[in-house]
Formats: sequence, C-alpha cells, structure tokens
Amino acid sequence: MAKPRSSWLCQQCGHIEPRWVGRCSACGEFGTFVEEMAPSTAPGPSARAGSARAVTALADVAVTDGLRFPTGIREFDTVLGGGLVRGSVVLIGGEPGIGKSTLLLQAAGSLGSRGVEVLYVCGEESVQQVRSRADRVGARAGIALLPEVDASVIEATVLAERPAVVIVDSIQTLFDPGLDGVPGSVGQVRATAARLVRLAKTHDVTLIVVGHVTKEGSIAGPRVLEHVVDTVLYFEGDSDHAFRIVRAAKNRFGSVAEVGIFEMTEEGLAEVAQPSTALLAGRAGGVSGSIVMPTMEGSRSLLVEVQALVTPSYLQMPRRLSVGIDTARVLQALAILERRAAIPLGSHDVYVSVAGGVRVSEPAVDLPLSLAIASALRDRAIGAGWVAFGEVGLTGDIRGVPHTQPRIREAARMGFTDVLAPKSAKGASSGASVTGVATIGEAVRTTLG
Ligand code: TYD
Ligand code: MG
Repeated sequence: MAKPRSSWLCQQCGHIEPRWVGRCSACGEFGTFVEEMAPSTAPGPSARAGSARAVTALADVAVTDGLRFPTGIREFDTVLGGGLVRGSVVLIGGEPGIGKSTLLLQAAGSLGSRGVEVLYVCGEESVQQVRSRADRVGARAGIALLPEVDASVIEATVLAERPAVVIVDSIQTLFDPGLDGVPGSVGQVRATAARLVRLAKTHDVTLIVVGHVTKEGSIAGPRVLEHVVDTVLYFEGDSDHAFRIVRAAKNRFGSVAEVGIFEMTEEGLAEVAQPSTALLAGRAGGVSGSIVMPTMEGSRSLLVEVQALVTPSYLQMPRRLSVGIDTARVLQALAILERRAAIPLGSHDVYVSVAGGVRVSEPAVDLPLSLAIASALRDRAIGAGWVAFGEVGLTGDIRGVPHTQPRIREAARMGFTDVLAPKSAKGASSGASVTGVATIGEAVRTTLG
C-alpha cells in the first residue's frame, strides 16, 4: 500500500512544494508553509480507465424556471443578478467590520419573513450576540441558529434540517476534523469550503459563505475560494464611512456589472435611494483642489467628489498619497500634467482622495483627477457648477469613455450646470451644457482660466 504523501502549502498564495521550504518561491513570503496531507488515492493519469457515459444534447436540456428567488433586499438582489439561485454558492468577502454579518442577517430575516427557511451558522459570534444584532436590524422570523465550527457537524445538521438557505459566517472559523491545520489556514479553508460546496450542489441548498479579506485583498491568504463558488461579492468602502458598495467579482448566474449600494445606519444596512446626494453631502463649494465626477457603478451613474492637496515638498522624494484611486493612475496623471500641460509637480507633495470612501477605478477619473491636482497647485477653485469625466492619454489627449449619457443626466439632475467631457461625448441634457475638450491643456484652461 502506498504511504500517504504530504505536501507543503504556502498560506499566503497557495503555492505547493513537495517539502518544507523557508521562503515561498511564488510570493516571496517567509515561513508560510504548512504541511497538508495529499489525498491517498490521488490517481495518476493512467491509473484507471473510466467507462463512457451517455451524453446529452444541449438543446434537450430542460430550462427550469423558478430557480431564482429574491431575498427581498433590493440592492442585494440587484448585485446577485435578480436574487439567489437555488443550489448556488455565494462568497461574500470584505474587511472585518465592513458589514458582512449585518447584511446576511438582514437577508436571512427578509428570506425568513417570506417563508424561506434559513440556517445561520455563527462561528464567530454567540447566539446571544446574533440575537441582539437581529433585534437591531429587525430580523425575526424563520431563522435557525447553529453556533458551530466543525464542518462535519454543520453538514450533518444541514442534512437533518434541510433548510433552503445556509449562511456560514465565516469560512475562516470552520475546521474539518479529518485534517491538520488550524481554522483559517489555506488547507482548512479549502477543505471546508469544498465540503460545503459539494453539500450545496448535491442537495440543492443555497449556500452563502462569509470570507474575511485583509487590507491586501486576499481571503485566507490566497483567493483560494473564488474558483469553487458560483458568485463572489466584495464589500467596498471603509468602516469609517457610512457608504458600502457590494460589487460582484464573479457571477455564474448574472452580470458582474451591477453593484449594490448601501449605507450603514443604526438599524443596519439601508438601501440608498439617492447615492449622489449622500456622497456630495458636506461638500464645500468654491474650494481649490476639488471637482465632482459622474462615475459609473454598474448601469447607474453616481456623483463623487475628487479632491487633491498639493503642498511644497521638503522631501528628496516628494510624497504621493492616494485614497480611492489607484496610485499608478495618479503618478501617470502627474507625469502627463508636467509634460503635456506644463504644470510641474516634481517639488510638491500630492495627496488625492475620493470623498466618501468610494473607490473609482475606471479611466474616466483621469480628467477630474488631473483638474483637481491643477486646481490645488494653483490654489484656484473650479466653478461649483462643473463636473468632469474622461480618460487622459499619454499624449495629453482626452479620450472617450462609455456611458456619457447617463453621466450627463445624473449631473444635470443633481443641479450641475457644466459638464466637461471628451470631444466625442454625445448627449445633452436640459439644464447642463456639455463642453467637449480635446487635450488636458484645453481642459485646464477651460476650468481654471
Ligand atoms: P459587521 O456586519 O459585524 O461586519 P463584518 O461581519 O463584515 O465583520 O458590521 C459591524 C459594524 O457595523 C460595526 O462596526 C457596527 C456597525 N453596525 C452599525 O453601524 N449598525 C448596525 O445596525 C449594525 C448591526 C452594525
Ligand atoms: Mg461578521
């Protein structure tokens, strides 16, 4: 009989080595390897010949309706692509304290009140804590609690109780008794997740799994779970701000373009009817280093304020700090301003931020970002009626971006009078006039004179 073989797994990136090593050759981390038993029956390529099965013509597969059911929380349903799909597995990631448990408890309450049986596995909190949170968010009927971290017990309980939806909070607390390794290690996370996914698929249970993500953006070290689940949702925003955006990173049953927009309140997460209003609340007009941008979140446009602060630098290497915008974008904007608009920033520290804790990753942020920096450097305010969007090319040209019409409409709806946009931007709106610009120099002259 073959000896059970073990392999060593990097807890950071999931890289596998046949023996222990001090430093991972894949991610460069030190001391991250943990031993894991390889399956004893790992078949080689030629171990066993399989027998053929009858195939099914795609066209003959019956289309079943009614597989999808709404949770009743509109923004959550939107990002899911219209609700939960029976037998699917959803992973919800996000930093600790961002609101994952809150959202799921609210979803559980809503599902419960619609007669859908929910089993809430609370591995992190006591039943009393869950109860008091449930009181706060108004979740009552139809939720069964299971304070358990042993995956085999959870599996057996699900088979005995047969709930329609199982919520596991969180995957990092679970452990498989048949495996070495502490809860939260890659091996355990992978094994318990695989076990629960199999359970969901074979018994048509809908499974929602919480996974904590570190600042660096990894779930349990690597993103080991993303492949095995059907849908991956990430919470964005930071716990210091009320705003939360839930974004789909993967969705086998829907589009990844949609997002859910929430606000953390005293009574849990609330849907935000007017995100632009909320995001712009507290904005002081007539200040240098600030401009509003209509950004796209899914099919919706929402207005965010892009801010910059530029100060003389006393450092050899001037400081560049960015919150909410990729630093690479900021560095590129600075280089383009310097070379294409004759706005030198080499001896200044530059800080940029998107107010409200929102992240903007689309290229359309280039133009407002550059204008905010130019405005901050010159200490001259851009007119309070302006919004801007557009990608800035390396030659300083302003390039077209998608969805110009909804952006212009949202700006006009929120009372902005002037839209600075790429030349190619089509679309007009009563109340706001659109000024097309071809270069970054022209954009700076238009808004800052
Ligand atoms: P939580 O859902 O526990 O975060 P996670 O499960 O992602 O770790 O959210 C906790 C935060 O939300 C905490 O800082 C308190 C806050 N909160 C509210 O502001 N209002 C509420 O009604 C609830 C339940 C939580
Ligand atoms: Mg939690």
